[in-house]
Amino acid sequence: MNNILSPSILSADFSILGQQIREADEAGAEYIHIDVMDGIFVPSISYGMPVIKSIRKTTDKVFDVHIMITDPIRYIEDFVKSGADIITFHLEATDDAMAVINKIHDCGIKAGISIKPGTPVKELVPYLDKVDMILVMTVEPGFGGQSFIPESIGRVKKVREMLDERGLLTDIEVDGGIYPENAENVMDAGANVIVSGSGVFKGDVAANVKKFINIFQNR
Ligand code: DX5
Ligand code: ZN
Repeated sequence: MNNILSPSILSADFSILGQQIREADEAGAEYIHIDVMDGIFVPSISYGMPVIKSIRKTTDKVFDVHIMITDPIRYIEDFVKSGADIITFHLEATDDAMAVINKIHDCGIKAGISIKPGTPVKELVPYLDKVDMILVMTVEPGFGGQSFIPESIGRVKKVREMLDERGLLTDIEVDGGIYPENAENVMDAGANVIVSGSGVFKGDVAANVKKFINIFQNR
């Protein structure tokens, strides 16, 4: 499968956000991961539509928008208008995940579904053939810079198995505590879209992106 790096701008220096996104883009990141938090589904509040609209001018790369918000269907159209290319919402944040998936697809973009570390992977079953991407959180959503939860490896393996059994080549994204040092482990488990915030934006952005790209190329 195609391995993709999706740098999470939550760990970027917001005073030079456009510049840092361009650096990640030029160094080879294919996606830009944008974490939207509402202070209810997760304890923290991050940024929303005006920021997405503004950074849309800095790159043509895929905007991978991860919405950690309650009742996500309310905002799908706004995120699409702001420039999202993929919207990934949380299974735990809605009573009607199918309606959210349909809404995202009706807007003409890709839909992803995400589960928190404590949500059984089997809850994804009804949506496996309906989504373009499955995001298996590898930390509790809410903050950058947390440690990778080791049990996530088995969960990613299980999701890849469930997809394989159905003949589906759906992308599996992993998010939280991922660095060049452990990227290979999650890819071996079956993930192919790698989110990294601290691993990209702490230190030299271009050099960090290239470390991930080298790992992808040597597989
Ligand atoms: C956490 C966010 C992540 C976060 C990852 O809720 O979904 O995207 O920014 O940051 P790192 O890579 O620093 O764990
Ligand atoms: Zn995220």
